[in-house]
Amino acid sequence: MSDTSYTTTNTGNPVAADSQSLTVGADGAIPLIDTYLTEKLAHFNRERVPERVVHAKGGGAFGVFETTEDVSRFTRAAVFQQGTTTEMLARFSTVAGEQGSPDTWRDPRGFALKFYTSEGNYDLVGNNTPVFFIRDGIKFPDFIHSQKRLPGSNLRNNDMQWDFWSQSPESAHQVTWLMGDRGLPASWRKMDGFGSHTYQWINAEGERFWVKYHFKTNQGIEVLSAEQATEIAGQDADFHQHDLYTNIADGNFPSWTLSVQVMPYEEAKTYRFNPFDVTKVWPHADYPLIRVGTMTLNRNAENYFAQIEQATFSPANFVPGIAASPDRMLQARIFSYADAQRYRVGVNHAQLPVNAAKTQVNSYSKDGAARIDFPPANRPVYAPNSFGGPHADPARAAESTGWQNDGELLHTSATLHAEDDDFGQAGTLYRDVMDDDQKARLLAQITGHVGAVVNDEIRARAIAYWSNVDIELGAKLGAALAMRAAV
Ligand code: HEM
Repeated sequence: MSDTSYTTTNTGNPVAADSQSLTVGADGAIPLIDTYLTEKLAHFNRERVPERVVHAKGGGAFGVFETTEDVSRFTRAAVFQQGTTTEMLARFSTVAGEQGSPDTWRDPRGFALKFYTSEGNYDLVGNNTPVFFIRDGIKFPDFIHSQKRLPGSNLRNNDMQWDFWSQSPESAHQVTWLMGDRGLPASWRKMDGFGSHTYQWINAEGERFWVKYHFKTNQGIEVLSAEQATEIAGQDADFHQHDLYTNIADGNFPSWTLSVQVMPYEEAKTYRFNPFDVTKVWPHADYPLIRVGTMTLNRNAENYFAQIEQATFSPANFVPGIAASPDRMLQARIFSYADAQRYRVGVNHAQLPVNAAKTQVNSYSKDGAARIDFPPANRPVYAPNSFGGPHADPARAAESTGWQNDGELLHTSATLHAEDDDFGQAGTLYRDVMDDDQKARLLAQITGHVGAVVNDEIRARAIAYWSNVDIELGAKLGAALAMRAAV
């Protein structure tokens, strides 16, 4: 029976005092043999793990995903078979801010999902935007460095941001999105989520399809004005965490409807945009949404550190019936996350309860710091073996990405698709999706943001960037900046 009435050391030894160190007399020195004091201080010094290098500030909750529709013609994944209910975890975050930074800073929001499926864990690590700033993972560290802090002053810096963006025109679509209303969601509950990349689905017959995931909020989209977001940042840095936690605690469970866009495998080669370019969307007129099911968050974490901070989501975690695409960003991410997590949480992070699969794990990985699980003593520790240890079963395994290609090894940005320019979809978003009020707010936002750029050359490039998005928008921005300079 557990008796929680008395304090112990970490090894269960009852301690003599909670609040008084051991001293030589009432005013003497503390001897090293006060092991409770030294253990307490030493453990405290090690309470933090490194924060995530990006998406450091966030919060999450547990829930369920229910597949309500029949999409078996596209995927054999158990999680997406009609009638299946799967336990899951979601974590929402900002990208550039550190732990403790305000939830309401303008930024994309992370939308990371872990499904504890009957075929092992499936992670979908997306954002609240359907596109991203760059299309090649080799640029990711440079991009993030430009959004974080200057090495000397440790301040964030608009020159650095626009220097990078204006020399990375593929960012235009995402930056238009970010500077628009959706850059400031009112809460995590009231925003959509996207897988963003193109993934592959494979059905029971082995037929392959390309898919994009869309999680539409059932709470309705709501955004903050720039003024509201700034005010809230000063009042409650944890505004979004607060909102999610209290709504779930009150039984007001947020939900999202998952739909997918599905592209027949053969159409990828000839589609007007490169379908594996994460800076582009697939217009719904080309590929309409097909409903899959509902995600509902219904349980707060009991312990933030153990269950949210130590949660490790990785785009490398696939299940049978789901695979990667040739998207260069996705391929880079497939390496990056587990590597980050071995450093951030430890080599055995997948054994922590929040990360552990709810299915049997028969891996030949062994040992390492903080090992918890181990196989029976008589099980072989290598494969192949002659003693009945687990052996690979290709029929059970997730498919690797099927995609015919060959060629020389190249470093190239060449595209094979007709409409693959950098600014086209950003212009469409501005002209065809935003109404006049939204356009005016976008102009005000970029005027303020570009207006804070000090370097003339970078500022001129930023104006040219917006002229490429939309000639009229660029002209308005130029005029607005000239007016600011004049006053
Ligand atoms: C090649 C480009 C990218 C690289 C190298 C990269 C790398 C990383 C790394 C190292 C982490 C921290 C992981 C951890 O410590 O647990 C992270 C977190 C995250 N990334 Fe990326 N990232 C990339 C692009 C993207 C894109 C395109 C998206 C969304 C579509 C995205 C969404 C996220 C999210 C949501 C998290 C937070 C996950 C969580 O809540 O734990 N990243 N990224």
